[in-house]
Amino acid sequence: MDTILVTGAAGQIGSELIPALRTKHGVSRVIASDIRMPASTTASDDPFEHLDCTKLDHVQDVVRRHGVRTIYHLAAMLSAIAEDRPQAAWTLNMGGLYHVLEVARQHRCSVFFPSSIGAFGPTTPRDRTPQDTPQRPTTMYGVTKVSGELLCDYYAQRFGVDVRGVRFPGLISYVAPPGGGTTDYAVEIFYQAIRYRHYTCFLSGDTALDMMYMPDALRAIVELMDADPARLKHRNAFNLGAMNFTPETLAAEIRKHIPEFVIEYEVDPIRQAIADSWPRSVDDSAARAEWGWKPAYDVAAMTKDMLEKLGTKLKPALAKG
Ligand SMILES: NC(=O)c1ccc[n+]([C@@H]2O[C@H](COP(=O)([O-])OP(=O)(O)OC[C@H]3O[C@@H](n4cnc5c(N)ncnc54)[C@H](O)[C@@H]3O)[C@@H](O)[C@H]2O)c1
Repeated sequence: MDTILVTGAAGQIGSELIPALRTKHGVSRVIASDIRMPASTTASDDPFEHLDCTKLDHVQDVVRRHGVRTIYHLAAMLSAIAEDRPQAAWTLNMGGLYHVLEVARQHRCSVFFPSSIGAFGPTTPRDRTPQDTPQRPTTMYGVTKVSGELLCDYYAQRFGVDVRGVRFPGLISYVAPPGGGTTDYAVEIFYQAIRYRHYTCFLSGDTALDMMYMPDALRAIVELMDADPARLKHRNAFNLGAMNFTPETLAAEIRKHIPEFVIEYEVDPIRQAIADSWPRSVDDSAARAEWGWKPAYDVAAMTKDMLEKLGTKLKPALAKG
């Protein structure tokens, strides 16, 4: 029986991709794996492997034992933490991907690899950033994402590995907290708005970035992996857009539901510099043309849903006081 392996499954994306894949393919066919234990939202006998992607033999062992045929490789260090620990970021982001691609080559697995708008840099056109354009990122996260995109292309062209991927913008979700990226403010703001009616933002109020709501991100992953390969000219590193806003416009959207909500700013120079080196918006026409990408959530629909779902999730804690 062909099985699916998800690395980094306890993170922001994996916490929601695992249930989505299990609904589609069946629980026993989807092996969650991470270097840490996932939050106990899944049954204890659901398949889980303690897997460190920086160890080639760990990846090989899990793929061989479970007869894995598709790997969703989510284990990585995100932008803000990677800037703090660049050497460790290289080891995890590049080492982990290299091991996954090598094992995929040996076992004829397909691979999904998420790149990021962090793969662009200050010399990239910042508005409606084209699919194919200069990429000279100035962060270690960006360096590993561009290198990862190239390595994926190499394994596809040289060894015929079916590796596909997207460049995600900042992802907004309520199930698992974000893992230390530059766009984390767009999640934190909802927790603080519900709890305290107040948020102190680490990016300046006019910092425009592309963002996406998690249900769209999950759909993008599934649709790209299901896409007819004959239609894919790029295969990997597709630009993806969904919504675009600044902290100021997101705060205004939240105030439509919580009128007393106040946003203040204490700009963190490190994360601001990272955001300022990224595109303000991307052109995702290649994804739209090659596999029919179309986002469902704009900022208004996302904000309404986030406040409802997070409000329900936080209710017991708020009731306790
Ligand atoms: N969340 C976003 O906004 C966003 C945007 C663009 C791209 N991405 C990319 O999507 C992928 C997943 O992102 P995420 O937000 O879920 O990240 P996350 O930080 O929430 O989760 C990453 C997971 O990797 C695990 N991990 C760390 N070291 C590991 C190791 N050595 N072996 C195995 N697992 C290890 C962590 O325990 C964590 O659960 C990453 O490649 C990230 O760069 C995310």
